[in-house]
Amino acid sequence: MQQWVVLGTGGTIAGTAASPSDLTGYKAGQLGVQTLLEAVPGLQQVLQGESLVCEQVAQLDSKDMDHATWQALARRCSHWLSQPEVGGLVITHGTDTLEETAWFLQQVLSTDKPVVLTCAMRPATAAEPDGPQNLLDALTVVRDPGARGVLVVCAGQIHCARDVQKVHPFRLDAFSSGEAGPCGQVVDGHVRWHAAQAAALAHPQAAKLLATAAADWPWVAVLHSHAGADPRQAQLLVTAGVKGLVMAGTGNGTVHQALLTALLQAQAQGVAVRLTTRCAEGQIVGQPQSLQLSEPGLNAFKARISLMLDLMA
Ligand code: SIN
Repeated sequence: MQQWVVLGTGGTIAGTAASPSDLTGYKAGQLGVQTLLEAVPGLQQVLQGESLVCEQVAQLDSKDMDHATWQALARRCSHWLSQPEVGGLVITHGTDTLEETAWFLQQVLSTDKPVVLTCAMRPATAAEPDGPQNLLDALTVVRDPGARGVLVVCAGQIHCARDVQKVHPFRLDAFSSGEAGPCGQVVDGHVRWHAAQAAALAHPQAAKLLATAAADWPWVAVLHSHAGADPRQAQLLVTAGVKGLVMAGTGNGTVHQALLTALLQAQAQGVAVRLTTRCAEGQIVGQPQSLQLSEPGLNAFKARISLMLDLMA
């Protein structure tokens, strides 16, 4: 019999507040994943007799997500995905760094099976929490034969790991896939795909990264170019031993000249530098600076993950 697995990591979906009207003054990561599943209406109808197992991998506010938790999560994903009876995974996660975890998993897992991250913008104690519906939708998506790769489900939209980004601090549909748009929707319990998704195909250095203690993963920092940018922010990082810098440039990847000089010096000293744009949508056109571009379409925080993997070579 097919089995589905739900891994809990915390977030607002597992958050609690003192009052049902309190939508922002809550504590994330309080309820276990079993409790979250018990609050999902119509779960048995969706499962149609198939079995569901859950496991608590972490319990945190995703602003505090760290590499050791990513490593533990990737290992648990690999374990469950290697079981022949398991058809796919759902992961409950906070919204704040969800796009980073989604891209990390897309880069370190190799599987045809779907891995669906879901979340909530309101705590579980809200008068009308969004978590149970999102979790139900995620379970609908993971069971859909068209689902593959790492996906994010929130507010009825399905996003691919590469494109998804949190774009609003409190709206229920807090995620956008920018110009690419969502790759599908969940409507009345049915999935409608707008675009085919890619299976998760691990980066060549994924196994090495996962076998390395998280404390020893290459240090890669993100910098932003802006008016009055101070080159010391790059210089101090180099002095402190940074191994890679991701530069979120202005517009089409332009960089304040003072910062650019410091980045070129960093590069000459052996620091890997990648350029992306701080714009919320679109990709850099051409080669605007003498800096290597990050993979097209990745925001700075996802480019940081890819550079960390590159640096394991
Ligand atoms: C978190 O990211 O864990 C808290 C915020 C949220 O889930 O919306």
